[in-house]
Amino acid sequence: MGAEQKGDAMPMLRMTVNGVAREVAASPMERLTGVLRDHLGLTGTKVGCDAGDCGACTVLIDGRQACACLTAAGQVDGRSITTVEGLAVDGVPGTLQQSFIAHGAAQCGICTPGMLMASADLLARNPRPDAQAVEDALGGVLCRCTGYRNIIDAVLACAAGTVPDVSPRADAPLVGQRVARVDAVPKVTGREVFGADHAPAGSLWLRAVRSPHARARFTLGDLAAFKARHPGLVDVVTAADVPVNSFGIFPDYKDQPVLAEGVVRHLGEAVVALVGSRDAVYTIDDADVPIAWTPLPALLDMDAALTAPGQGDAPLHASRADNVLVRGRVVRGDVDRALAAAMHVARDTFATAAVEHAYIEPEAGYAERVTEGGIDRIRVFGCTQTPYMDRDEIARILALRETQVHIVPSAVGGGFGGKLDIAVQPLVAVAAWKLRQPVRAVFTREESMVATTKRHPARMDVAFACDAKGMLLACDFAGDFDTGAYASWGSTVANRVPIHASGPYAVPNVRALTRAVYTNGPIAGAFRGFGVPQSTIAHEALLDDLAARCGLDPLEFRHRNALRAGQATATGQRLEASCGLAACLEALRPHWAAARARCETHNASQPGLSSLRGTRRGVGIACMWYGIGNTVIANPSTLRVSLRRDGRIHFYNGAVDIGQGSNTTLMQVLADSLGLPMACIDYVMGDTDLTADAGKTSASRQAFVSGNAAARAGADLRRRMLALVEAGADAVLSLEGTTLVARADGRVSRIDLSELPADRNGDLFVGEGSFNPPTVPLDADGQGVPYATYAFAAQMAEVEVDLALGTTKVLSIVAAHDVGRALNPTQVEGQIHGGVAQGLGLALMEDYAAGVTDNLHDYLIPTVGDVPPIHVILIEDREPLGPQGAKGVGEPALIPTAPAIFGAIRHATGVRVRQAPATPARLRAWLVAQSRHPAIPQDSHP
Ligand code: FES
Repeated sequence: MGAEQKGDAMPMLRMTVNGVAREVAASPMERLTGVLRDHLGLTGTKVGCDAGDCGACTVLIDGRQACACLTAAGQVDGRSITTVEGLAVDGVPGTLQQSFIAHGAAQCGICTPGMLMASADLLARNPRPDAQAVEDALGGVLCRCTGYRNIIDAVLACAAGTVPDVSPRADAPLVGQRVARVDAVPKVTGREVFGADHAPAGSLWLRAVRSPHARARFTLGDLAAFKARHPGLVDVVTAADVPVNSFGIFPDYKDQPVLAEGVVRHLGEAVVALVGSRDAVYTIDDADVPIAWTPLPALLDMDAALTAPGQGDAPLHASRADNVLVRGRVVRGDVDRALAAAMHVARDTFATAAVEHAYIEPEAGYAERVTEGGIDRIRVFGCTQTPYMDRDEIARILALRETQVHIVPSAVGGGFGGKLDIAVQPLVAVAAWKLRQPVRAVFTREESMVATTKRHPARMDVAFACDAKGMLLACDFAGDFDTGAYASWGSTVANRVPIHASGPYAVPNVRALTRAVYTNGPIAGAFRGFGVPQSTIAHEALLDDLAARCGLDPLEFRHRNALRAGQATATGQRLEASCGLAACLEALRPHWAAARARCETHNASQPGLSSLRGTRRGVGIACMWYGIGNTVIANPSTLRVSLRRDGRIHFYNGAVDIGQGSNTTLMQVLADSLGLPMACIDYVMGDTDLTADAGKTSASRQAFVSGNAAARAGADLRRRMLALVEAGADAVLSLEGTTLVARADGRVSRIDLSELPADRNGDLFVGEGSFNPPTVPLDADGQGVPYATYAFAAQMAEVEVDLALGTTKVLSIVAAHDVGRALNPTQVEGQIHGGVAQGLGLALMEDYAAGVTDNLHDYLIPTVGDVPPIHVILIEDREPLGPQGAKGVGEPALIPTAPAIFGAIRHATGVRVRQAPATPARLRAWLVAQSRHPAIPQDSHP
């Protein structure tokens, strides 16, 4: 069946979509993604890159997987297409989807449709695949959240007919159960609504025109004439349209413009915004936009930025004459004396690269100006990790009251810290406010990468010292962190790192100094760990050095020095409980011994190291600790929960779930606190008109901080319900239709809720809970209590290095994490898997270069073939302050992986990794250098 052309109209394409014959008037050149999403409304097919790199748009064409973004509509004329919407039967997830749900194989869910379609293709051809066949089938689909292993397990279980039942057990507390995510079904059926999936009909499109220079002055030309030349272009929004043209995370550092004013400070900075029809804004050539550029010498690294002011060059920001945004400092004891007196001192320098978040969902959303209750308001819909900060920032930019701004979070297709900063939001808000029309924007992959924040590149000079028995005496740390053109979260990184720089060890003398340095590089912000992953690379390498010098096993050396309850941290905080590092190391012992034996056997069969041929295996270990929540500053969360006249519980959840599972784990805590099943609870997430401020989803804080708030909100509502039915505290509550029932001591009390007066939401009454972790401000030497609790972990990595190629294959990871209490072990393990995968990328491949690697083809992240089996060991050293003992795991999961891999590379080859990532080219060069200079000790673990 061919395409029909009717006059000047688009040709009519005919295809079968999910078993239904469809006709679509579309250009044969249009991408299939556009046909599915825009013409047919099938937004389950996601767009992550429009280049065939990420596979999020994978569909079946005549039963075989293909990237819809690389398929022209004309190519599918007369053919059969299956999308994720076609997998469910009568809206009910099929077995494959159920298996994804049961295995926690969907976290944020943005890759899930592509994963499901690639899996469906495999299972249709090979009903009983092995793990390798699954890896091969999924090789074209990227996932940034899960670490892939649970996805592989889900496909294998589907094939084997062994999908586990993850229904909640009624005879046990919900906390601790592996219940399915409450948002799992929309994620596996394509019904989840992400930032690009929804906008009001008739929305204008916005595209920012961005700087081609890292540093330049510019002037705008005749925009009216430019606009007149481009039918379909409605407006060109400039800095002059922005009422208050600056934003930033902290009140003191609002240094970033929405649209540049006469000067740009980094490649890709937004200069003007084109608003109009989609065709118009995307077909205009940037070179046509009347911008006259005067390029300036850019300060692209920290050396240039730090020396420039002394050479008379203007600083990036007038308020920081030395290009130093902020300094961090923790000093305890007498480091110089301890270093001088120590038996062993290990000292080295380390550098790490800029790392891109590479969430599969590029930033997207819309804004519309609305009148509600007689108030002129702006509503902003889109992906965010922090709706209340967005609300306050948009209000500031538009010079509105906070009550005039309504943030409605979409589902978030991965964040990892990158969606803590506003990106799309201020652009569409300014345009929609000015034009009084809804305006939407969807960043391209390139735009997402060039315009948004990165992990701070770091340069660290570090020394550790110990006595003859291997007890640590001192840590001397000096680190510079490249915060790029604008402040973003640079001060958080500079202040968090010194606290953590001595590692999870008892070190009596610490001097840790940091600087966040402005450059004309990419803006660096929050990325899973706030600088701690970088500093952990340094301290774990030096601990290996000291262990070797003491003749101690690396695990044993760490075990001796592990922080334990009763000991003081570098800030002088005495830890009182929940310090599970020693237990983590104990749990690793048998795996460590077995892996070392395997490596020895393998290496004995290989040519000598100096031959630079064959492969060598090694095993490395690394520990971490991580303060949960904000550093010192207030960190509250407030959650509300109501009883409704229809007999339902409604959870007003201000904590945004970015894939980590907080919608589910908070509901588990809440349900236990209420004494009711999860099935009777509905929820809304993050809507600033409906929920209270639960704070941002960052710093691994939601389980601990919002978990406590959920427990308190549940307890508050339970008290009110018990009072309503005049029952005692021990009564068993249930909701039976619209009747609230309490049973205690053979007595049954009932009340029909449908007869009671409710507010406009249908709520009869509302319970509320708040929690703000107790901290003590740090003094000038960084002494105090920066966090209420800490997570601990130890991971080991086993690797095989190809000496001729310089490649490193990670063979296995064993990850022991003290999480206090695993609220939902499936979600916790999922966080650890995902963190390990990102840590592997940090170690071996991820190195962002603005203007060079702004796509998922040149910027490599781990694929399904890169992530090895991950054995997770959960240590539950209960935190007395935590909800049922829980702490947090989001960031801790990533932190030890890279140093464990580097330790393994060193064990295998003797090469010390001083610069991350250890790419094949670098490692090969280091191996060659080592072989040419045998005087350099090829040291390895004892
Ligand atoms: Fe795969 Fe988020 S679940 S990218």
